[in-house]
Amino acid sequence: MNKNYYITTPIYYPSAKPHMGHAYSSIIADFFARFKKMDDFNVHFLTGTDEHGLKIQRSAEKQNKDPKSFCDEISKIFEDLTNTLNLSNTDFIRTTEDRHKASVQNLWKVLEDNKQIYLSKYSGWYSVSDEAFYNEDEVEEKGGIKIAKISGSVVEWVEEESFFFKLSNWEKPLLKFYEDNPKFILPESRKNEVVSFVKSGLKDLSVSRKTFSWGIKVPTEKNHVVYVWLDALTNYLSSLKYPDQDNELYNRFWPATLHIIGKDILRFHAIYWPAFLLAANIQPPKRVYGHGWILSGDEKMSKSKGNILDPLEIINIYGLDPLRYYLLKEVSFGNDGNISEEKLENCINSDLANNYGNLCQRVFSFTEKNCSSSIPGHQYNEDDLNILNSMTNSEKIRTFIDNQDINQYMNFIVDRLFASNKYFNDQEPWKKKDDNLRLSSIVYTSLELIRKITILLHPVMPQTTIKVLNTFNVQEQNIQFSSIENNEFLTKGNTINKLDILFKKIEKNND
Ligand code: ME8
Ligand code: MG
Repeated sequence: MNKNYYITTPIYYPSAKPHMGHAYSSIIADFFARFKKMDDFNVHFLTGTDEHGLKIQRSAEKQNKDPKSFCDEISKIFEDLTNTLNLSNTDFIRTTEDRHKASVQNLWKVLEDNKQIYLSKYSGWYSVSDEAFYNEDEVEEKGGIKIAKISGSVVEWVEEESFFFKLSNWEKPLLKFYEDNPKFILPESRKNEVVSFVKSGLKDLSVSRKTFSWGIKVPTEKNHVVYVWLDALTNYLSSLKYPDQDNELYNRFWPATLHIIGKDILRFHAIYWPAFLLAANIQPPKRVYGHGWILSGDEKMSKSKGNILDPLEIINIYGLDPLRYYLLKEVSFGNDGNISEEKLENCINSDLANNYGNLCQRVFSFTEKNCSSSIPGHQYNEDDLNILNSMTNSEKIRTFIDNQDINQYMNFIVDRLFASNKYFNDQEPWKKKDDNLRLSSIVYTSLELIRKITILLHPVMPQTTIKVLNTFNVQEQNIQFSSIENNEFLTKGNTINKLDILFKKIEKNND
């Protein structure tokens, strides 16, 4: 069985500081990475910044900075955010690094050797904001300004000598690839969009620019720079030391397991990227998941619209783990979603304080008082076994993860939290003071339930769950998903360390 897992986020443009949308993609990717890590996979988790192209060059010019120092500053903010979000990424790539340049120039040469690239002239529309070329029928006029229909961003007319990639040759092979790999693009609705776009016909793609210089030079024609999307996509290979295809990283992790992206950049990942790779005789990644947008009102939150919510502000007020929990549970994965302070507060109160927090608090304080803070003995009855066994189905949970079914995963947890609280209520251990074995068995069962749920919550809320597992003397590096199969993990007589309140209920004023 293949126990290697390579997951990526998009590499973000350091044209402005990150917002909640970027935090969202990164937290999603971290959730999968952490799950796989505790399920004994070797995980390579890549994120980073996409630093070339006209968009960055112009953003730097606006601030009278040279593009490299401009990128240094903002890329650092993205890198700091990986710590603030507690991401478990194993690499952070910048496309201005030498390792990446070498990788892009090599891929270019392979494409050239394979006769996939030719010199001609581009004339057409270009959006600097999207770094994308658009056909006439993809553009409309609004208030005297030409914009791309799909993104609403301004386009400008470009006419210049350019290298082209023979994308038109890859129409049929791509359609066959989608057919042979029916889960290459998820969710399904996005896949259908892509397939019909490809079926409507692909034109050759301009892959170099000549009228500005902020980019990686085309190796054979130094007055051209490589199109920023060909440059950026290659980052997924650069991190594995491509062009060296005979090293441990590359052998383990290519083809990538999962590219997490937003639906705004689906075309690049689901059409151009596999086409470049097929043309270079490299296997395409196994899956591209295009998630929905975090909205601001009913518009996409974006730098260019200026309607952003700063994740740092939210984290300062509410803490990181509640934010992670909210984004994973309350946004229907694949669809657009919203975040507001009110919704976040409701979620903290109902799910974290009243449900998970409450379960931990009442069981731990009962154990402290009645079992002198150590793991009691037990003899299970049918009630105990029923509820414990409802959480041993690890294959089902693995399937949720492998289908990126985050909502099912979260619903399973919430459902088991309710059931566990109910179990503790119904069993009424406080009435069993004259039946020590029964009291102990209820406590032991409840502690096992907390342990299992906490493991499931670990990829969602790493900091909080580590605190809870530490009370059982389980350290972060020893958290094992498969241990949810075990109904008797805890050892009688072991001390239970003290646990502080996990989540404070947020008082709402109702005026
Ligand atoms: O497109 N909701 O970078 P970018 C959810 N450099 N996710 C959002 C979002 C929102 N409102 N806004 C942004 C680029 N994102 C390229 C990528 S990859 C080889 C190159 C997330 O800074 C989402 O993942 O514009 C989206 O696809 C990505 O940030 C775009 O980031
Ligand atoms: Mg963007």
